[in-house]
Amino acid sequence: MKTINLGKAGPVVSTIGLGCMGMSGMYGPADRAESIATIHAALDAGITLLDTGDFYGMGHNEMLISEALKDRRRENVVLSVKFGALRGPDGVWSGYDSRPAAIRNFLAYSLQRLGTDHIDIYRPSRLDPAVPIEETMGALADLVKAGYIRHIGLSEVGSETIRRAAAVHPIVDLQIEYSLISRGIEDDILPTCRALGIPVTAYGVLSRGLISGHWRKGAANGGDFRAFSPRFQDGNVDTNLALVEALRRVADEKGATVAQLAIAWVAAQGVDIVPLVGARRRDRLAEALGAQKIVLSAADLAAIEAALPRDAAAGERYPVAMLAHMDSEKRT
Ligand SMILES: NC(=O)c1ccc[n+]([C@@H]2O[C@H](COP(=O)([O-])OP(=O)(O)OC[C@H]3O[C@@H](n4cnc5c(N)ncnc54)[C@H](OP(=O)(O)O)[C@@H]3O)[C@@H](O)[C@H]2O)c1
Repeated sequence: MKTINLGKAGPVVSTIGLGCMGMSGMYGPADRAESIATIHAALDAGITLLDTGDFYGMGHNEMLISEALKDRRRENVVLSVKFGALRGPDGVWSGYDSRPAAIRNFLAYSLQRLGTDHIDIYRPSRLDPAVPIEETMGALADLVKAGYIRHIGLSEVGSETIRRAAAVHPIVDLQIEYSLISRGIEDDILPTCRALGIPVTAYGVLSRGLISGHWRKGAANGGDFRAFSPRFQDGNVDTNLALVEALRRVADEKGATVAQLAIAWVAAQGVDIVPLVGARRRDRLAEALGAQKIVLSAADLAAIEAALPRDAAAGERYPVAMLAHMDSEKRT
């Protein structure tokens, strides 16, 4: 497994990270033992970057990771944790809180649940519109000084916020959605990150399974995010799955699976982009890891682009109400 430095002063991480969100209910039920086995398999394969959020299953995801890491060396793992999203006992999302006092409170609970004395990369999950980013960054910088967190990252913010945040304290990465069908960051956010030397940890590289080659129409149910995500809805999903079939033809030519091609495409967009794969089963993880062996030539990239042109997907990447909270989606 290759590694890279996240930013000039950032930690060294594997060039693929494991996102653990799907292990805590966001994509419907997940098998606990299989989730832990998947984390172990990822670490054994050389993945060092594990991503979570305190709101994934309201603490469930952090406790799961803690259990998976209990026989592992803490110093071999880079834990990336998001905070700030507010949820009710029914799981309903109710806004964001990035006030300094709230951050210290979130962090105290996360450290307990994770069973650790520090978090490697700590980041607000979204911009809290009621709190200037400088205030949030100041509180996080104090927590770095105190040794509770090692580095600060950002998530789903736009260029202006990135610049303002980086002026207060070094940012080691921007976590943001980036895939063959979510390419909005290419216009402005990615160039800003590059100008500031901030790598991107890309999530949703398979568009939450939609472009994995395994998705079947109507497979989402219950609390699965995909049950209400626009791209999975009737009227959009057929268009999107037709694009996946076009991609499958390119993958077949290349001797790869659709998921491997989609992950390899993200990785090929720059050495400063680390795909976070959302596998929650060992077979899916093994498939994702196979993407590392795929080298895409200029002709391959052109064939992929022809199969899945930049703006061909039908539907937004989030429901409208959620997009409204996203600083990264604000058009200036
Ligand atoms: N900062 C943010 O706002 C934000 C938002 C969302 C996620 N994230 C982070 O990014 C991570 C990855 O996001 P994501 O889970 O949406 O990513 P993803 O990799 O696009 O989607 C993961 C889903 O794709 C399906 N899949 C099919 N084949 C796969 C394969 N070979 N490898 C992996 N998954 C495969 C799986 O669903 P089935 O298991 O149902 O087959 C899996 O749950 C999350 O776990 C989380 O840590 C961050």
